[in-house]
Amino acid sequence: MHIDKGLDNTIIGESRKSFIDGQAGILEYVGIDIDDLARNSTFEEVVFLLWNDRLPTAAELESFETELRAEYSLSSEMVGMLKSIPHDASPMHVLRSMVSSLALEDPDCNDQSLESERRKAIRVLSKTPAIIAGFDRCRRGLELIDPDPSLNMATNFLWMLNGEMPGEASARAIDVCLILHADHGINASTFAAMVTIATQSDMYSALTSAVGTLRGPLHGGANERVMHMLQSIGGHDEVESFVMNSLENKTRIMGFGHRVYKSYDPRATIIKKTADEVFKVTGMNPLLDIAMKLEEVALSDSYFIDRNLYPNVDFYSDLIYEAMGFPMDMFT
Ligand code: ACO
Repeated sequence: MHIDKGLDNTIIGESRKSFIDGQAGILEYVGIDIDDLARNSTFEEVVFLLWNDRLPTAAELESFETELRAEYSLSSEMVGMLKSIPHDASPMHVLRSMVSSLALEDPDCNDQSLESERRKAIRVLSKTPAIIAGFDRCRRGLELIDPDPSLNMATNFLWMLNGEMPGEASARAIDVCLILHADHGINASTFAAMVTIATQSDMYSALTSAVGTLRGPLHGGANERVMHMLQSIGGHDEVESFVMNSLENKTRIMGFGHRVYKSYDPRATIIKKTADEVFKVTGMNPLLDIAMKLEEVALSDSYFIDRNLYPNVDFYSDLIYEAMGFPMDMFT
C-alpha cells in the first residue's frame, strides 16, 4: 500500500477541455490559448466552446445566448428562500445551498439523458448570478432587481447587484474573470464534482460538491484571504518584514503557489492587465502597490524560487473586485 499525498502520482482521468503546461505557464481551452480567449472572446462563447469542443458560428452563439437569457430569473419560491436566509451567512454557503435547492424544483433532476443534463447546466449557469446578486441585495435590505435578458451574463450580474448599468470596463473585467475561471482541467472542485457524479448521482449534487470544494481557502477561497492579507500588511515598507515573518511562522502567502503551475500562472498575467483597465475608471487601488512589492520580494527570495512559487490567478483578481466595490466575502 502506498499513500499518495495530494494524488501526486495518480492520474484519475484526462480532460479534453483544458490543456495545461505547468512548467511553461500555458493554459488552453480546447486548443485555444487563454490569452486569445480573454482578449477576443466572451464568457458565453467560451462556455459554448467548452460544452461543444468548438467555437460557435455567429448564429449558434446568438441562439445559445437566447437560451441562457431565458433562464436568468429565479422562481418566486427560490426568491423566497433567498430572502429567508440569515443575512450574516457567507455568500459561498448561500451559493452552495441554493445550487443544491435548484434540484428541488427540477422534475427531471434524475434524468441523465444528454439533453436533460444540458438543460440543467444552462439552468444552473444562468441562475447563479441571480442567486449571488439577490442574496447580497437581501442582506443589504434592498429590493431585488429583475434580470435584463438584453444583457450578457457579466453585465446582467452587475446590473442585478447594483441596480445601475455598469461601465464598459467593469462589465468587461467580470467577463474576462469568468473566462479565466471557466475551466481548469481536473482541479479540486471539478474532481469533487466528478466523484459525486460517478456514483450516478445528479448534476445538482455534483455541482453542490464542487461549490463546497471551491470555497476552501487553498482553492477558490484564496482571493478573499489575499485581500485580508494585503490589508493586514499596512504599507509598502512593511512588505519585506511581512514575508520574512510568514516564512518564520510557516504561514502561507495567499495567492502564491499552484498545484500545477510551476511558473507564472498565465491567468495572473491577464488579470493584472485587466486590473489596469478597471483602475483607469475606478482610480488606482492602493493595495496594488503592496501586492506588486510582495511579488517582487517573494520572487527574489530563495524559498519561493526553490519551490517554484509564483502569483496565481487569485493574487490580483481580488484587487479588481475590491475596486469595483464588491464586499470581500463575495470575491470567490
Ligand atoms: N506560501 C508559502 N509556502 C508555500 C505556499 C505559499 N502560498 N504554497 C506552497 N508552499 C510551500 C509548502 O509549504 C511546501 O514547502 P515544503 O516543501 O518546505 O514543505 C512547498 O511549497 C510545496 O507545497 P505543497 O502544499 O505541497 O504544494 P501544492 O502544489 O500541493 O499546493 C497550493 C498548491 C495548495 C495552491 C499552495 O500553493 C497554497 O496553499 N497556496 C496558497 C493558497 C492559494 O493561493 N490557493 C489558490 C490556488 S489557485 C485556485 O485554486 C483558483
